[in-house]
Amino acid sequence: MRKLYVFDTTLRDGEQSLGITLNAREKIEIAHQLVHLGVDIIEAGFPASSPGDFESVKTISCQVKGVTICGLTRAVEKDIDLCAEALRDAEAPRIHTGLGVSPIHMAKKLNMTPEQVIERTRVAVRYAKKYVQDVEFYAEDSFRSERDFLVRVIQEAILSGATVVNIPDTVGYASPWEYGELIAYVMQNVKDIDKAIVSVHCHNDLGMATANALAGIRAGAEQVEGTINGIGERAGNTSLEEVIMAVVTKPEAYNIVSNIHTKEIAATSRLVSRITGVTVPDHKAIVGTNAFMHASGIHQDGVIKDRDTYEIIKPEDIGVMQNVISLSARSGRHALQHRMEELGYHIEGEELDDIYERFLRLADAKKEVFDQDIFALMGDKQSVAQSIQVKSMAFSSAIGHSATATITLEVNGALVTEQAEGNGPVSALFNVIDRITGNTAGVEDYSVKSVSRGHEAIGEATVKLRNAQGGLFVGKGFSTDVIEASAKAYINAVSKYGGA
Ligand code: KIV
Ligand code: ZN
Repeated sequence: MRKLYVFDTTLRDGEQSLGITLNAREKIEIAHQLVHLGVDIIEAGFPASSPGDFESVKTISCQVKGVTICGLTRAVEKDIDLCAEALRDAEAPRIHTGLGVSPIHMAKKLNMTPEQVIERTRVAVRYAKKYVQDVEFYAEDSFRSERDFLVRVIQEAILSGATVVNIPDTVGYASPWEYGELIAYVMQNVKDIDKAIVSVHCHNDLGMATANALAGIRAGAEQVEGTINGIGERAGNTSLEEVIMAVVTKPEAYNIVSNIHTKEIAATSRLVSRITGVTVPDHKAIVGTNAFMHASGIHQDGVIKDRDTYEIIKPEDIGVMQNVISLSARSGRHALQHRMEELGYHIEGEELDDIYERFLRLADAKKEVFDQDIFALMGDKQSVAQSIQVKSMAFSSAIGHSATATITLEVNGALVTEQAEGNGPVSALFNVIDRITGNTAGVEDYSVKSVSRGHEAIGEATVKLRNAQGGLFVGKGFSTDVIEASAKAYINAVSKYGGA
């Protein structure tokens, strides 16, 4: 069977689309999890797009090993120089360069003739080759290009030394049979196509990104590009977890296998959702909460008789483990660690001590601790290292009157107490935190939801702050007290913005 190279662009195409600025620590956390998942290539960012992106690609190149680290560039020398510099410490660096090849991209966006595009292709790939052996060329908007011109561009890229050629459906316009035909056309008509790996990169504007990517793989592509949970520009990119599970479930249909450790899929999906603040819809294929839930009586009856009646994938294959041990305040550290391993969290030492202590506090407040509570505990972990911590809070409010919040925060080791008013407890809370921290970014979005079961369920608060430069900062907070969860979320977002 052929080998499928899995190219993850969550940190580039995924991140760039959301207006979210992930900090280097968050990107490293995602990158390490992608290594656990077993992806072959991580596209870590677009170094020329901002100093922050440059630094993130550089940090990931230094710290994340055992995987190819890729950086995106336009087909211009200064982008390639910066990208090569950012990738300098990568174990296996790849430069991903390219430009638009459809009539509309060439005429309207690039203001270039087709011959100039061919020339740029040659110059950029050769220039990138001076830095790294592994150069991927993307022909942006391939699907809307003229076929014979696309063949010429791809041929030129391979002749100039490209090791991988990416044929994107940039605007998500293709249907599966059309995209399959395009890849087949490239396979049949590009001279020396066997000297490069053909890559599929699909967007989901018509809801067909996964189907299109799979059609491309059937037609000969051996690399798939996509993101975890399908996050990305507009309607998103191909969901890698969907492609992987399609191939694992029906390898003979695609004649290809990947190195992915499928049991890490659920943990990776949760991590990306938590860090980006992008919620996975309940009905999302593979990773949605309902993906393995059998609700109707007829289905439940069938599954009890034989799981195969309505289940084509076992939940445990993607790391959703049935809980056989019920966790409570009587559970030991080892039982917690065991369950966390099953859920995809590999923790030990001091980190385990810390989570166990917080687990016991939670178990005291609740009779039973469910998996969702553990996800929340892990989500809350990020706030522990922050230099601002909530020490105490008090509120007074009544319907028809303004509310007052009094809060004591520990800021860099010093206790600060302030009071502020608002038109409700939450607005008073946010005002008093602004007063202490000097935050000026405005609230773009705020939500609270329950993430576990029962009266004592943990509440998850999400706060999105937008600063004057347009940057968006997502904060999360977890607590059985939703006001405390809101305070934590707000402080978490302020910390990211202010770097606290
Ligand atoms: O969608 C696209 O064409 C891209 C390229 C920059 C690879 O993301
Ligand atoms: Zn894209």
